[in-house]
Amino acid sequence: MSLNHGFSHLAMPGPTVIPDRVLQAMHRPSPDIYSGELVEGSTALYADLKRVAKTDADAVIYIGNGHAGWEGALANTLQPGDRVLALYTGRFGRGWASMAEALGVEVESLDFGEAQPVDPQRVEDALRADTAHTLRAVITVQTDTSTSVRNDIAALRAALDNAGHPALLMVDCIASLGCEPYHMDDWGVDVTVAACQKGLMTPPGLAFNFIGKRARERRASLNRVSNYWDWTPRIEGEHFYQKFCGTPPTHHLFGLREALDMLHEETIERTWQRHAACAGAVWAAVDAWSQDGPLRLHIDNKAHRSTAVTTVVAGPGNGPRIRQWCIDNVGVTLGFGLPVGEIESARPDNLFRIGHMGHVTANGLLGSLGSIETALTSLGIDHGAGALENAAKSLAAAVSR
Ligand SMILES: Cc1ncc(COP(=O)(O)O)c(C=O)c1O
Repeated sequence: MSLNHGFSHLAMPGPTVIPDRVLQAMHRPSPDIYSGELVEGSTALYADLKRVAKTDADAVIYIGNGHAGWEGALANTLQPGDRVLALYTGRFGRGWASMAEALGVEVESLDFGEAQPVDPQRVEDALRADTAHTLRAVITVQTDTSTSVRNDIAALRAALDNAGHPALLMVDCIASLGCEPYHMDDWGVDVTVAACQKGLMTPPGLAFNFIGKRARERRASLNRVSNYWDWTPRIEGEHFYQKFCGTPPTHHLFGLREALDMLHEETIERTWQRHAACAGAVWAAVDAWSQDGPLRLHIDNKAHRSTAVTTVVAGPGNGPRIRQWCIDNVGVTLGFGLPVGEIESARPDNLFRIGHMGHVTANGLLGSLGSIETALTSLGIDHGAGALENAAKSLAAAVSR
């Protein structure tokens, strides 16, 4: 007998649960795209988007997914033959670098493995070794969604400053914006890349570039950028139409407007705290399971863990088994393991991921954790006792803080 009837729950690290308010905001007839509400509301929309990244920098929106955000950032700052330093802490850092290579950029990489964050000292050393300053940018992710490693972006900025290196600092916040503390201006980030389908709770389809002054200067120094990717008309264009190099993504913008209202009603700081509280409950549960049997957290050190997604090591073959069991029997969809490197424990079939980002509530999270516990019991996978009790205690402590 399957119990997968009734309300289902998505616990993937993106796309995430879309709040009813966002869905309802999108459920309306097509608007005028030359004047009226959409056009008049755009100044406030961009301003509120920038508040989430804690920046006064320029912002552009592409119709596209996270890959589009990557390409926008690369296309406006680099040309074929330029060199970048790419930092790997999982699959997504590698993915962005591979896109740079496809655009003719030469990539020098530093690989920090599958379970460790970027070591700023190694970055500083690599930059110091580049005495001719041929590296034009450092590209990295804040949270690598495959490993659930979170990098310390302020420490990276310090590494560039200590080395006295002029490379741009470009950060992928696709999995972390609206979930984890991020201060683009205070941390001296030149370009932030993000997308709408994770912390921003909107259906996939919008990518964002936040563009600091030095990055705009770099764009101005390039001879040619394709019309579609070019930041300049998207920032300076006289007509709303130019912000999108064509027809605007009307309904996505209505959805984003509502999602930003929700974030700012909660306040971005409290949103970060809610994510931290939910992550704490997940870690407490996995700690209990890990007391007996194969399950454990992929990232040992709490300080290196994302508070938006958790990668769980589950034992060979168990990742897909647990995930499928939850879909089939209790209507919970977890994230599957992604190939993140060569080490045995990080093989995709050894992993599953719990997304606790965006419209995540303690009740939904407890449902996901209880569902995993039920899967472990049903599948006969050894696990320690007390996971839900641990999670409840962790949440109770967060509420009373
Ligand atoms: C950190 C990170 N960067 C980039 C991407 C790629 O985004 P998309 O799949 O929307 O193109 C993802 C997707 O999960 C991601 O998590």
